[in-house]
Amino acid sequence: MSPFQTLNLPNGQTIGNRIAKAAMEENLADTRQAPSDALLRLYQAWAGGEAGLLLTGNVMIDRRAMTGPGGVALEDEQHLERFRQWATIGRAGGAQFWVQLNHPGRQTMANLGQQAWAPSAVALDLGSFSKMFAEPKPMTESDIHEVIQRFATSAALAEKAGFTGVQIHAAHGYLISQFLSPLTNRRTDQWGGSLENRARLLLAVVSAVRKAVSAQFCVSVKLNSADFQRGGFDADDARQVIQWLNEQQLDLLELSGGSYEAPAMQGEARDGRTLAREAYFLEMAGELASVARMPVMVTGGIRRLAIVEQVLDSGIAMAGIGTAMAVEPHLVKHWREGKNSHPQLPPILWKRKPLAALATMAVVKFQLHRLSRGHQPRPQVSALWALIRDQLYIARRTRQYKQAMTK
Ligand SMILES: Cc1cc2nc3c(=O)[nH]c(=O)nc-3n(C[C@H](O)[C@H](O)[C@H](O)COP(=O)(O)O)c2cc1C
Repeated sequence: MSPFQTLNLPNGQTIGNRIAKAAMEENLADTRQAPSDALLRLYQAWAGGEAGLLLTGNVMIDRRAMTGPGGVALEDEQHLERFRQWATIGRAGGAQFWVQLNHPGRQTMANLGQQAWAPSAVALDLGSFSKMFAEPKPMTESDIHEVIQRFATSAALAEKAGFTGVQIHAAHGYLISQFLSPLTNRRTDQWGGSLENRARLLLAVVSAVRKAVSAQFCVSVKLNSADFQRGGFDADDARQVIQWLNEQQLDLLELSGGSYEAPAMQGEARDGRTLAREAYFLEMAGELASVARMPVMVTGGIRRLAIVEQVLDSGIAMAGIGTAMAVEPHLVKHWREGKNSHPQLPPILWKRKPLAALATMAVVKFQLHRLSRGHQPRPQVSALWALIRDQLYIARRTRQYKQAMTK
């Protein structure tokens, strides 16, 4: 199938082609956690790039619960005008523009000084790096209802601001994914135990979001095809969850994999095994897509047009691209013009896996920050240099965040 063919979604909306810019946390909020000018400039670069769908990096539903100090939060109408400008810029080239909504749960840094919520008191295990993350507090019934309500409120605000959809982040070890996994969810109430109970939060969030927005507004979920951890959420669990999601009015399901503990989304399983070189989750996704009634998108490792075609030929409706779009924001346009681009970053083969994972993210963020200043990406940047810059930036943003939160 041609990657340049349109996709009709279950709610009647259309995506102009089969390629999406996947969510990549930009860390470019202003000091009030609202979209900054730099963030708007970054999306100007992507808006001209002809991807059919642009997903924002994760936007927090609660400013007390951040994946990082420079993130955007959308919890009330205070900065709605800035979100309107962001939506207008992202849609300027005709793309669908969806806000990815997230709550980090236990995957939040201790030095942000906030109480981390999680299904159970199971802290992140990253060896000597574990202490950097907050000790999670098990959520009460009322905390859980607050989170469901917040997802719905943020989705309604995204629609009001002019975005065309939202994506609920239920992958990568964040809060909803923590509920889904038996390793992190040890609850014995209706939110834990059986898969049905562990999936209750995801299904409640999807249902609350759908009720809070209009029928034309797109609602999507990003789900792990597996966590890549022994005893964790696996492909059989994903298959069952997809069957439950079939009963909800979802417009797109994105399949990914991994978490901070097992960064499979970067091409590494928990034991350091390297996953298939390109389109990491394709094999699993193809099988899972056969049970999904909504269109499925797969993201992870895609950087060549031939691989996009292979993804689409395997019954997947869309291909999501992150890293390659950070290196070449006009990638889809270039492919449509017949250029044989395959943007790639040099692999980081450091022995200390958590550090290598951080450096991989830092090198991509380095490209995003260059684009946000109107510069060309620089894929050959030294990984060590990018990591040091990123850590200094995070330290500054952490100080600003803490100051703002004490006010
Ligand atoms: C810098 C960076 C930030 C990311 N932030 C997010 C995010 O906010 N939400 C999300 O779902 N995935 C996030 N991801 C994961 C990507 O969406 C994608 O699943 C992953 O990078 C694999 O795709 P790729 O090989 O095309 O980059 C991020 C990845 C990178 C490199």
